Amino acid sequence: MLRKITTLVATAALSAFLVTGTAFASPVVIKFSHVVAENTPKGQMANKFKELVAERLAGKVEVEVFPNSQLFGDNKVLEAMLLGDVQMGAPALSKFARYTNKLQIFDLPFLFKDMAAVEKFQQSAKGQELLDSLQKRGLVGLGYLHNGLKQLSSSKPLKVPADADGLKFRIMSSDVLAAQFKAVNATPLKKPFSEVFTLLQTKAIDGQENTWSNIYSKKFFEVQPYITESNHGLLDYMVVTSKEFWLSVPEADRAVVKKCLDEAIAFGNAIAAKKSMDDRQKIIDSNRSEIITLTDAERNQWVEVMKPVWEEFEKEIGKDMIDAAYKSNM
Ligand code: SIN
Repeated sequence: MLRKITTLVATAALSAFLVTGTAFASPVVIKFSHVVAENTPKGQMANKFKELVAERLAGKVEVEVFPNSQLFGDNKVLEAMLLGDVQMGAPALSKFARYTNKLQIFDLPFLFKDMAAVEKFQQSAKGQELLDSLQKRGLVGLGYLHNGLKQLSSSKPLKVPADADGLKFRIMSSDVLAAQFKAVNATPLKKPFSEVFTLLQTKAIDGQENTWSNIYSKKFFEVQPYITESNHGLLDYMVVTSKEFWLSVPEADRAVVKKCLDEAIAFGNAIAAKKSMDDRQKIIDSNRSEIITLTDAERNQWVEVMKPVWEEFEKEIGKDMIDAAYKSNM
């Protein structure tokens, strides 16, 4: 009896294969790993990507999304990608330092005056050139995704750089960000995103820098009494995959996956600015954290102290690149 069933199943599989050429082939699985909450621009972009791929490539390609560092944290995701344990991610641009110096440009303090300037630079020839900066390390940059400009949260009010003197700030794994905090005589500590809330809650650190949506979704505002609206730096992402995986996807399917991704990125970018403002308002409404607005004179003090960091990294990043990015403000 068992032999008969086995033969029947095998015959059905063979005839289905002969008819469709693909029946019973398992779909290509794209594990998409990220560290933020689902109700953030990146979380929503990843879910949209999954939805579009399910609509257009059902049975051929499947996307599985793992938010909140469930699968891999910041320090491991790119390594895991090169080993084939995860196929896509969108780390913050500050987290590629082990793979290229070039993306450090996005961490330079006060380089971009607003997100329109960021978009203009990323879409320019120079910005697009940076998507290829990981090629030599076996990674493919598939597109930029916005979150927004960063604010400074702290256990004490920060109005002028001298207020940060002696404080400990968590930073992403970037030497530019370390230099930025050293410039105000503070101590930078490179720590994974998943540890920030506990570090703040236990007062192991005094502050951190992040966007409104991350400060809100990860509840940093509940354990940080002050947030200075400094807009001093950028937190954006690059959606990446490994070259080995990307080339293994059949060409026609790859083109559809890329189209789904481009649309998901456009969707994420379209909601990022509104999400930023909505989450800022929710933080104000919570009355848990005071938002400090800087006067022009106070803000200029931060610019003056932090801007020399540009020169420190000019050689690694390239002056032509910095000039091009700066021009996007005009
Ligand atoms: C992220 O937005 O992906 C995390 C940012 C951070 O590590 O602060």
